[in-house]
Amino acid sequence: MADLIDGKARAAALRAELKKDVAALIETSGVTPGLTVVLVGEDPASQVYVRNKAKSTTEVGMRSDEHRLPSDTTEAELLALVDRLNTDTSVNGILVQLPLPAHIDSAKVLAAINPAKDVDGFHVVNAGKLAVGERALVPCTPLGCLMMLQDSLGDMSGANAVVVGRSNIVGKPMAQLLLQESCTVTIAHSRTRDIESVCRGADILVAAVGRPEMVRGDWVREGATVIDVGINRIPGENGKSRLVGDVAFDEAAARARAITPVPGGVGPMTIACLLYNTVAATRAQLNLT
Ligand code: GUN
Repeated sequence: MADLIDGKARAAALRAELKKDVAALIETSGVTPGLTVVLVGEDPASQVYVRNKAKSTTEVGMRSDEHRLPSDTTEAELLALVDRLNTDTSVNGILVQLPLPAHIDSAKVLAAINPAKDVDGFHVVNAGKLAVGERALVPCTPLGCLMMLQDSLGDMSGANAVVVGRSNIVGKPMAQLLLQESCTVTIAHSRTRDIESVCRGADILVAAVGRPEMVRGDWVREGATVIDVGINRIPGENGKSRLVGDVAFDEAAARARAITPVPGGVGPMTIACLLYNTVAATRAQLNLT
């Protein structure tokens, strides 16, 4: 039976570290890092995310600001707000909550964010810096996965890493981070032929596809380390729903050396890494290293 990689505990430890870092930053520079979240419309899941972000932000001693805009906000109005936040020196991190309403071009809005304040790491400048190995703001979910892998494995050089999923938010940046760790990296996706045997070659298997329990136990090599990014709600017993990952947990845990659970694995690390990025962005803006 695999060891559990406890994301909840790891996230709590990271937040405790960040709380000290924030206090030290305030002490030495007089600057309290500030994260501004922009939420357009009333998507219930987004409202929950935004509330959790605000709570975690203030808990580590940072400033949390929110702009809640109605769902009929125009693209021009949103771009004007982003512009104001870009030039406001009291704003260190900007996060525009996704998804945006359909009448707004998300790519255009993300491109308008000052890359130095792009704590989501979604701007092409940050994606490009990550790709060429420059210091960048890295998307929070893959950054959290990397931290857990580093804790669990230490040196990953030479390991076969397979990332299932090729999104800009998780799959692609995850592959870049694993390449930086000197892994041999494969990105598998919906068009990959014989995806099972590709996965069976993985010492490190990261699943980020958004398909409930797609990765079965016999896709997992004995002794592999498995990171499950999926958070899928499926019908459970007596009319309730339950959360499952992209990996069939019990089957995979019987073969893996270590595995993240869902919930309590990758999820809690994502917001903690957002706070990490906000501290890192603030330091860089103050020319501190
Ligand atoms: N919506 C769901 N997760 C995220 C996230 O990490 N960042 C942004 N901007 N929107 C999201």
